Amino acid sequence: MSWAARAREAAAAVRRQAGRTPEVAIILGSGLSALAEHVTADAQIPYGAIPHFPVGHVEGHPGRLVIGTLEGRPVAVMQGRVHYYEGYSLAEVVFPVRVFHALGARLLIVTNAAGGLNRLFRAGELMVITDHINFMGSNPLIGPNEEALGPRFPDMVDAYDPALVQHAETVALGEGIVLRKGVYVAVSGPSYETPAELRMMARWGADAVGMSTAHEVIAARHLGMRVLGLSAITDMATGEAPAHVTHEDVIATARRIEPAFVRLMRRIVATLPGA
Ligand code: HPA
Repeated sequence: MSWAARAREAAAAVRRQAGRTPEVAIILGSGLSALAEHVTADAQIPYGAIPHFPVGHVEGHPGRLVIGTLEGRPVAVMQGRVHYYEGYSLAEVVFPVRVFHALGARLLIVTNAAGGLNRLFRAGELMVITDHINFMGSNPLIGPNEEALGPRFPDMVDAYDPALVQHAETVALGEGIVLRKGVYVAVSGPSYETPAELRMMARWGADAVGMSTAHEVIAARHLGMRVLGLSAITDMATGEAPAHVTHEDVIATARRIEPAFVRLMRRIVATLPGA
């Protein structure tokens, strides 16, 4: 069965539980799932109840799809995502993005916990993503192209919508939240980077590093969705004076950033231009 057909089946199952057409789809990263508590929910659907949906098993990820409204806007919110390092193919990992599109969402907000490569950043800050480097070693669009989803060779210029970056910055300024801006480099994980790898990625021009997001954005752009990306900088990963990082630290810091993240996201969604 094609990915497009599977996405239609999954979307039909979701619609049976919540009929609302989401305008905005949101993927909440590690330690950032509290935003979903602010959604006035029509339905909360465990991933396992959605046909073909990947079901992950990483701490800090509840694993359910929340359909409802956030600040009055119809949304579909993923509380937790699956990762490539769990053993899924990238096509499986990005399947939820295709379901969002099949549900009618045309705007995707991707969020993640990331290590800070830019020495001017501090752990505990938020960053809006302006571009990415896909260093996963693979691509979710490898394989026969499904014309029903998008073109064989999708363009990736302005993949992170410049108007949405500007919008996020304006909202952050109004809320008094420090919002950094930069390039996200995606690695497969699950091992964290060596200091040499971190120094390499900083020289490439990357500002933050993480194990998600880039492939989701590739799939979303393939579908023609507009994208906004936000990273919570959970640790400084500069490769100088190497600091050891643990998953527990990452989750704990993400939880510390969560209140500012939730405030920023709510205002961004409430005042979205042209959604
Ligand atoms: N490296 C990779 N992924 C991450 C990091 C990191 O330092 N922090 C949070 N996710």
